Amino acid sequence: MHLSLPLSSPVFDGNEKIYSERAIGSGHIATFGGFITKFEQKLSKRLKTHEAVALNSGTSALHLALAILGVEAGDEVICQSFTFCASANPIIYLGATPIFVDSELDSWNICPEILEDAILGRIAKGKKPKAIVLVHLFGMPAKIEALLEIATKYQIPIIEDAAEAVGSTYNNVSCGAFGDIGIFSFNGNKIITTGGGGALISSNATIIQRARYLSTQAREDLPYYQHLEIGFNYKMNNLAASIGLAQLEQLDEFVSKRRKINANYKKLLGSFEGIAFQKDSENSKSNFWLTALLIDNKITGFTSDRLRVVLKKRGIESRFLWKPLHMQPVFSGIPFYGGNNSEQMFKKGLCLPSSVNLTLKDQENIVEVIAQELVKAS
Ligand SMILES: Cc1ncc(COP(=O)(O)O)c(C=O)c1O
Repeated sequence: MHLSLPLSSPVFDGNEKIYSERAIGSGHIATFGGFITKFEQKLSKRLKTHEAVALNSGTSALHLALAILGVEAGDEVICQSFTFCASANPIIYLGATPIFVDSELDSWNICPEILEDAILGRIAKGKKPKAIVLVHLFGMPAKIEALLEIATKYQIPIIEDAAEAVGSTYNNVSCGAFGDIGIFSFNGNKIITTGGGGALISSNATIIQRARYLSTQAREDLPYYQHLEIGFNYKMNNLAASIGLAQLEQLDEFVSKRRKINANYKKLLGSFEGIAFQKDSENSKSNFWLTALLIDNKITGFTSDRLRVVLKKRGIESRFLWKPLHMQPVFSGIPFYGGNNSEQMFKKGLCLPSSVNLTLKDQENIVEVIAQELVKAS
């Protein structure tokens, strides 16, 4: 049987069509219009203590966050290594250097102990890091309490890259709302999408004001165009925000569906030896944007790549975990603190289809392919 199961596809079963038609009808589809404000307000309401600025990508949100924290050429910024390149690229845009830090094996996110070693190591070299970029990988909250303690101890601001963690919580607080600045992505395959889009969030009014100013070309509030600083064209447009508003209305439903998909995979694959999952901790609630596995090929007899190829032949899309940034050719020579945790997870890992509209039957079919592979390997 040939299936057609993508890794993560969007679902537009809410008010997307109605709102986007309204946006077009209003004549405002660029960076001015009522849906931008409504989207920001709805997002801020969810975050309770934080305000949100809607932007055109998660990458631009990270770029703005770093710029607002004063990162400049020659600075160093600590960054989780086990992540997508967009977590680190904006550090380079500003002429600063990322310092990569390995992950721990529970949440797969930045390891608090290694983070502290890295901070001390850089301070010993006379370079106190200007910021810390931590990530909630595949939606899984990082060990936020321990990380905040270290950041506070050394007085270094945290940027939370919650691009993949919209709707995830830690101690019932939204991921993104712990750091000095948090960012979200609403790219095409994320848990909610605006086509391309992102947001910067903060509880600090000065940071929010600065983000609004810098994201709209740093235009002064005057009847003519006057600029005192170099700004960016990073604001979200009204058409994207109209879709975002409709998506946001369904976020709780999407999170509970993705969590159910994760629970089903755990149930269906639970008895298979050599297959392990990314785990929620007692305090954390992942949105399980993607369900990710680790495959121990010494036990299963097949590698993650072998499984990827077999799944692909059956029309099932799967994907490697992010290749750690310290292993990326483009970042060669950049300092790295840690061992081989993220490297090992990268080698063993695979993300399985996790779209909101995946059915239990689809999941049973996927697990059947994995089971057949296990039988062949035994
Ligand atoms: C961890 C992480 N950070 C940043 C980004 C960048 O977001 P965007 O694609 O919206 O620029 C993404 C996703 O694409 C991501 O997965």
